[in-house]
Amino acid sequence: MKRLIVMLMVLVFVGVGVAVAADTYTYEASQGKVSFTHKAHSDKLKDCSKCHKGTPAKIDVTKDVAHKDLCKKCHQEMGGPTKCGDCHKK
Ligand code: HEC
Ligand code: HEC
Ligand code: HEC
Repeated sequence: MKRLIVMLMVLVFVGVGVAVAADTYTYEASQGKVSFTHKAHSDKLKDCSKCHKGTPAKIDVTKDVAHKDLCKKCHQEMGGPTKCGDCHKK
């Protein structure tokens, strides 16, 4: 019994260490807030490596990442939204 409890505690502890992405991330910006639907994007693109290099982990979404490196770049290639008001909602 004691062993079982210890094992369960270990499992809980390990579980906490595994990062899970939220379904949606929201970024506040003067232009209007942006919602990034992580789950919808992952489901549609089916490939984590489209955005994550190596093991998926936190990405620091800065203005440059959004406008140059990641979001808008892919949208231009794949026909996603590229107008200010498509992403920024007041
Ligand atoms: C593909 C989606 C997308 C498009 C298109 C886009 N943005 Fe952004 N923008 C973002 C995201 C995401 C951020 C990051 C916010 C942060 O830093 O947390 C951002 C950040 C910004 C910021 C800096 C944050 C602030 O409060 O000062 C400004 C200004 C901005 N955008 C203006 C624009 C303008 C103007 C356009 C159109 C020319 C535009 N954006 C188009 C997603 C987008
Ligand atoms: C369209 C781009 C994109 C795709 C595809 C994508 N992710 Fe992400 N993911 C992101 C971005 C951007 C963040 C950072 C969000 C934030 O913290 O602002 C993130 C964050 C994460 C995090 C960190 C969560 C945290 O808060 O520590 C994990 C884990 C993750 N993603 C896993 C995955 C897995 C697994 C897949 C494939 C099933 C996947 N992602 C597909 C863009 C993507
Ligand atoms: C690897 C490609 C890719 C990347 C990277 C990507 N997107 Fe997208 N995104 C798409 C595609 C494709 C669509 C169009 C989906 C559709 O029409 O069904 C889309 C749609 C959207 C939409 C409108 C529909 C919705 O789900 O809300 C928003 C807003 C959006 N993306 C924001 C972002 C932001 C913010 C980032 C960066 C953190 C980002 N995307 C990164 C491919 C991408």
